[in-house]
This record gives sequence, structure tokens and C-alpha cells, in this order.
Amino acid sequence: MAMFSDFLFGGDWNPEQWPQATWEHDVELLEQAHVNEATINVFSWALLEPREGEYDFSMLDSIVELLNKHDFKIVMATGTAAIPAWMARRYPQVMRTGVDGTHQIFGGRHNFCPSSPKFRSAARALASRVAQRYTGEKNLVCWHVNNEYGNGGGYCYCDTCAQEFRHWLERKYGSVEALNRAWCMNFWSHTIHDWSDVVPPVTYGDGIGTDKCVISGLQVDYRRFQNEQMLACYTIERDAIREFDTETPITTNLMGTFKDLDYFSWGREMDVVSWDNYPGMDTQPSFTAMCHDLMRGVGGGKPFMLMEQTPNQQNWFPYCKVKRPGEVGKLSWQAVAHGADTVQFFQLKQSIGGCERFHGAVIGHDNSDRSRTYREVRALGSDLQDRAKQLMGSRVKARVAVMFDWENYWSLEGCVGPTQGLHYPDEVHRFYRPFWKRNVAVDMIESTADVDVLKQYDIVVAPTLIMVKPGVADNLEEYVRSGGRLVTGYMSGIHNEFDLVIPGGYPGPLRELCGLWVEEIDAIAPDATIDVNLGGEEAGDHADGTIVASIIELEGAQTLATYGGDDFYAGTAAATVHEVGDGKAYFIGTALDDAGMSALIDPIIDESGVPTIDAPENVEVMRRYADDGTVFTIVTNTGDEATEWTDEQGVLHQLNPFAVLVLTNE
Ligand code: GLA
Ligand code: ZN
Repeated sequence: MAMFSDFLFGGDWNPEQWPQATWEHDVELLEQAHVNEATINVFSWALLEPREGEYDFSMLDSIVELLNKHDFKIVMATGTAAIPAWMARRYPQVMRTGVDGTHQIFGGRHNFCPSSPKFRSAARALASRVAQRYTGEKNLVCWHVNNEYGNGGGYCYCDTCAQEFRHWLERKYGSVEALNRAWCMNFWSHTIHDWSDVVPPVTYGDGIGTDKCVISGLQVDYRRFQNEQMLACYTIERDAIREFDTETPITTNLMGTFKDLDYFSWGREMDVVSWDNYPGMDTQPSFTAMCHDLMRGVGGGKPFMLMEQTPNQQNWFPYCKVKRPGEVGKLSWQAVAHGADTVQFFQLKQSIGGCERFHGAVIGHDNSDRSRTYREVRALGSDLQDRAKQLMGSRVKARVAVMFDWENYWSLEGCVGPTQGLHYPDEVHRFYRPFWKRNVAVDMIESTADVDVLKQYDIVVAPTLIMVKPGVADNLEEYVRSGGRLVTGYMSGIHNEFDLVIPGGYPGPLRELCGLWVEEIDAIAPDATIDVNLGGEEAGDHADGTIVASIIELEGAQTLATYGGDDFYAGTAAATVHEVGDGKAYFIGTALDDAGMSALIDPIIDESGVPTIDAPENVEVMRRYADDGTVFTIVTNTGDEATEWTDEQGVLHQLNPFAVLVLTNE
């Protein structure tokens, strides 16, 4: 079942930045581009509540009225993502304090302290007023709470947060002794004697930012705590809306692999996941694909909303390329192929002031229908109504799961040593890409997924699973014993949920399952590689290992690849397989280059029987399955060069740069 009756094609519209006399012309222009939706009120707190407790909805009413007149669907934001001047002035404690202790004054956005009782009650009050006023509007299709929680400023480190954090710890650990044990606080005389001794991981305390911290259990717990505080801000507004509107879906826009928030915990609180896709100049299409899959996974596999993307260039990268002809169509279709049921932009009309004036928009500074951006959006809008609308509600089905776990993200990147070269999303992508290259659909799952969930997959991949939380090792073992294929490797199996090393040799609780002991982890310099012989003990093809090399002692596993070169561990295992029960556990000891990862993962795919689809490397083939049995095959040339693709029936298709084919099984 589709969540919306129309395929939403539109995005953020900020008419409050323009004289009212221009609005109608803009809406007409948008209408001609097949835009049928506007996301409004994202940053309007200062206009809606010009003085504390005094609300003025006159402008928003006129905007809604105009959109209704043109039968635009409305995604209504609560408007709480930027603090109005009077509030910052009167209640300074509402504003966020940075990791360096700087207390923010008025300005910017996403600038509130998530623990501030004043912020929470004021945001709740505003959300409540907005909901009361617009519930039942005939074109209202979705509520959009706040905006990109956590973006920009990062966590808050103010006194309120510190105090709340101490209470949070007290509830979690019960006694300071338990906390001292959990965090290994006898290190460097960190032993605390009173809850008030706990200091958030600030730069002038123990933190080097939250990323690196003397006491790593502190950084992981502070992240958990801030995630909960921020999520509470979301649920407070959501619940305020629900008092008036029991039906319309409620969302907030997420940001893919954004580090600071554990989006799986957010997905559980959201009716529909929406997210903002801003690939950079060097982002590989397979990385974007992974982000879509991750957002779909966060939403429990349901279709999601592509809430934002730019119709042309960004403004906030150091260098902002314009999108090439056809590129915006390709990016939109790639989202649909991975499960998006909407295509929305930031923004519909380009600002003339503020720091986003060089950000692409459907209506540009020329204010006409003549720009290339406008014309491409118009063509895309018509195409989506023709070809994408029928896909709504259909699902992606995957037989491979890749784990992505935010606490693991924090644990891995929080390590001081053995290298600073590990960026979690990139390492997950390294394992994801061989599947993408062969057009194997992937679900992204949490490391704590139930064993019954794991058993639905032929292959489960656990890249750099450094933090093995309670139950996870047992689940993985049961999964493998019952015939599953687990692929894991370097940096896995080292920490417990308190971010302490699990004594007894790496990969800790996965050691028996993998049939090996990683005795040492060597770091490879950023400009260096280590040679890997993919023929196992025989001569074979070679690949480059990077970042780290696990020095492995076999305990039952067989060697699939060995280290070359002339270092002291040359000739030892670089990748292994261990048969356990009816299944196999694979261990890849070093971060192999693209060809090397494929060389090891391809045979696993082939042996598992998971179907693959042949296509040139830049061509992505994805499927969505409708309840009525229709299977949609979406073929996207993600590259800017023409190519061709022969389908499974042997039909040859010419694919222009960024071309998209939609085939059905009928
Ligand atoms: C984010 C925000 C938008 C806008 C865009 C610009 O995604 O949600 O308000 O700032 O970035 O790319
Ligand atoms: Zn705070």
C-alpha cells in the first residue's frame, strides 16, 4: 500500500522570503514543471511567534490557501529548527554550547540545546499550535518535524546537558563503582568518587571533540545520551501533533550516514523515513545506493521519502559542480529504484539573500522557465508521473544484508590507534560495493538484528564490527550453523558494549566462529599498500590491502588469500573461511582495493545462489516488487558516458548518459 495518493514531486518552498505579490506567479511556474507538492514552514518560528506566546499565522494561512487553490499537496513543517531572536535573548540557556565550551548566542540554525526544558516546551507549544491550525487541511499529506536534527552544530555540552547526563548515567549504572568499572576509570587516575565528577567529553576536559576521548566509554555513552535527548525532542513534537491529527504520517528529514544520531532508534519512532541526499563531486553511485538502502532499512524496509536533493549545484561544498544534463533525473530515479516514493528538492525557489543563495533551485535567479535546471525538472516531473507513480508502495527484496550500526560507528572512529584511517561508512561501503557491482539487492540492518531476521538472508556482512553487543555473537553463530554465510574481517570483534576490549584475543566472541586469532593489527601508511596474493597458498591474482592488516594465526580456518611482500608476516593468511555447521564464516583481514574485494566476495555470491544481473560497471539494475505481482526493473546508467545493456532476455538497450529504463514483467 502506498502511503500517499500521488507521487509527491516538489520540495522546500520559502515564500516568506518573497513579496506576496510574487507567489502566485511562482506557483504557476512550478505547476507547469509538474510540481505537485510544497514543503513549507521549515524555518518560520520567528514569523509565527514574533513575541513569546503570541502567534501569528496570517502569512502561513495565505501560503496554505494559495497552495490549496493550485491543489498542491502540503508537507507541513513544525518550524522549530531555528531559534527566534527573542528566545535566545530572553532564555540564553535554550542555545547550544559547543564542545569547546562556546555558548552560542542568536544566529545560525539547528542551534538549540536538546535538553533545555524551555526549548522543549516552546517547541512543543509551537508544534501543537501548527497542528491545531492545519490538521484536516485537505491537501496536507505529511508532517515534517523540525529539520535535520544535529546538523551543523553537533551535540550540546552545556551545564543542563551535563546534569542530565549524570542522571542518565546514574540510572544506567546505579553506582559510581559500577561506572568506574564500566569505563575502566583507574586509567590515568580517572576514578570518580561522586556523580558530579562526571564531565562530558569536551575539549577542555577529556575530549578531543566527541570523536576521540581519553575514556572511550564516556564518548560512546555521551553519544547515546545526546541521541536520546535529540530523539526526545522529536517525539515531543510528534506527540503534540498526534493530539490533533491521528492519521497523517509524521517524519523528520534524516541524513544518510550522518554520524551523531543512531537512525535505527529514530526509524522506530517515525511513520515514514525521509532523507536528504547530497552526494558530493567524488561520491560513488554505489555509496549513494548504500545510503538509500540504509534509509530504507531504518524505516523497516518500507518505501521512504526523498525529502531533499538539489536540482542543480549545492552551495556548501568547497567546490560546487553544476549537475550535468540528465544527472538530476538519474539521481532521482536511483532513489526510486532503492525504494523512494517521492522526489523532493531543496528548494523550489532560489534565495537572493542568506548563505544559500548559490544553492540550486527549481526557479532560479532568472525567475523564468528558461533555465536548464527548470527545464530538466519539468521533464523529470512529467517522466515521474508517467513511470514512477506506478511503483509506489512496491518493495525492494534482498537476500543479502549488510550491517550498519551507529554505536559501532562511534566505537570504531573513537579509537585512538592503531590508525586514524578508518572511516566507518567507507569501510561498510567497501564491503557493499561488490554486491552493488553485480546488481545484488542489499538490506542494511542493525548488528543486533534478531537471529530470525538474519536467517532470511543468504549472506550477512558485518564490516568492521568492532563492538559486539550482547547476543550478537550468539546470533551470528546460530546463523552460520544453520547454513548462513557470514562475511566479516579486520577490526571486528574487539569491543564490548562499554567500549572495553574483550580480553582473550581478537576477534573476541567471533574467534571460534571465524576459526582464527588476530594476534596483531598492523597499520598501513596512507600512501602505502600491502600486497595480497588472492590465490591463497598458491600463486594467484594480486590485490592491494590498505589501512590495516590483521596478522592472523589460523585456528581451524582455511586460507583464501595471503600477504605478499617481504614483511615478517608475508605468506600468512590475509583472508580465510571457516566452515561451521552448515554455513561458513569468512574473514577478510585487510581493507582490500575494489578488485580485491570483488575477487573475494564474488565466489561467495556465486556459491550462495543469490541471483546477480550482468551489466556494465556504471549501470545499476534494481527491482521493486508490487503486491499484485508486478516486478519493476529499474536500469540506471549512473555514468556520464553512453553505454549499452543486454537484458536477461537478450534484448540490447542503448543507454545514453544518465539514462533510466523502467521495465515490467508483463
Ligand atoms: C539541508 C537543509 C536545507 C538546506 C539544504 C541545502 O539539507 O535541510 O534546509 O539547507 O541542506 O543543501
Ligand atoms: Zn545542552
